[in-house]
Amino acid sequence: MKAVGLYKYLPIDHPESLLDLEIDTPAPAGRDLLVGVKAISVNPVDTKRRAPKDLVEKTPKILGFDASGIVEAAGPDCTLFKPGDPVSYAGSVIRQGSNSEFQLVDERIVGRKPASLPFPDAAALPLTTLTAWELMFDRMGISKTGANAGKSVLILGGAGGVGSIAIQLAKKLAKLKVTASASRPESIAWCKSLGADETVDHNRPIEGEYDYVLCFSSSDAYWSSFPKITRPQGKVGMIVRTMKPVDLSILHDKSIAVCLEGMFTRSTFQTPDMEAQHKLLEETAGLIEAGVLKGTMTQNLGKIDAANLRRAHQMIENGHVTGKLVLEGWR
Ligand SMILES: NC(=O)c1ccc[n+]([C@@H]2O[C@H](COP(=O)([O-])OP(=O)(O)OC[C@H]3O[C@@H](n4cnc5c(N)ncnc54)[C@H](OP(=O)(O)O)[C@@H]3O)[C@@H](O)[C@H]2O)c1
Repeated sequence: MKAVGLYKYLPIDHPESLLDLEIDTPAPAGRDLLVGVKAISVNPVDTKRRAPKDLVEKTPKILGFDASGIVEAAGPDCTLFKPGDPVSYAGSVIRQGSNSEFQLVDERIVGRKPASLPFPDAAALPLTTLTAWELMFDRMGISKTGANAGKSVLILGGAGGVGSIAIQLAKKLAKLKVTASASRPESIAWCKSLGADETVDHNRPIEGEYDYVLCFSSSDAYWSSFPKITRPQGKVGMIVRTMKPVDLSILHDKSIAVCLEGMFTRSTFQTPDMEAQHKLLEETAGLIEAGVLKGTMTQNLGKIDAANLRRAHQMIENGHVTGKLVLEGWR
């Protein structure tokens, strides 16, 4: 089957940083689905995992997390999906990725493709939706049925992939007052179109105090501002790993809670509640089909091949993508 992968971890402008390859098609066992991949979206995790390092793979490493496609075959223990079902999912960091014509994925982390969305639009959603949803509703305990209505949330990085769905979850489900950070006319307009009540520029000092602060940018860069911008007894949600030790004591006077989210935690540690991600994606599909949430794809970069994927990685590394980048169909 066709795939895009790497042997060496190189800067993205190196022609061998991502390669067009032919590899064997795997076979499903247990609760695995073999999915024929129709579209993928690209996330910063792809670029972080591809980042230059002194390691050479013996067999090609296939990156890629978000995908939409059609179930080609199902392992003997599958109960949730069958061949022919259209699906979307964010995959796992401990297995080969979605940048391949066919991919194995555990059905417990797969959802149906929203019926109202074409495959590319469906591929844009799973990873960012799992992240924003788990952070806000599972880790931070924000009510998704409006019990915290009227409280304020600041979304740092509002126009990015995660911010684009978080704005909608905060506004439409949690009924919060949403302030999103964006620095450019295009990203400001995008945040407003998704439901942000107001925007602030993250290139300037952030003013005001918020009940909830969702940080979808460098946790290290924002850490020292959390005590100032979070209300007493408020909560900060972080999805980006701190790269240096942080001083928790600066949050103590205001009794600020910090919640961490890793959307690969459930699949990496095979937690007993792993199927929560299937249920979450199914619930999201229903909300998309009902018109409550809308898709976040902004650019379709064309066929899935090494050249187009290098372009997508480069755009993400530049740090100012609005919404989601998608690739569709095989070279
Ligand atoms: N833990 C997890 O499970 C998890 C899951 C998903 C993502 N992540 C991580 O979360 C981060 C965000 O992911 P993403 O997919 O949303 O990334 P993304 O789509 O690449 O984010 C791009 C956005 O970042 C904004 N931005 C640039 N500089 C900023 C700053 N100083 N402060 C705030 N926002 C800034 C840009 O806004 P402007 O163009 O307006 O400047 C742009 O819209 C990445 O580091 C990613 O690896 C973690």
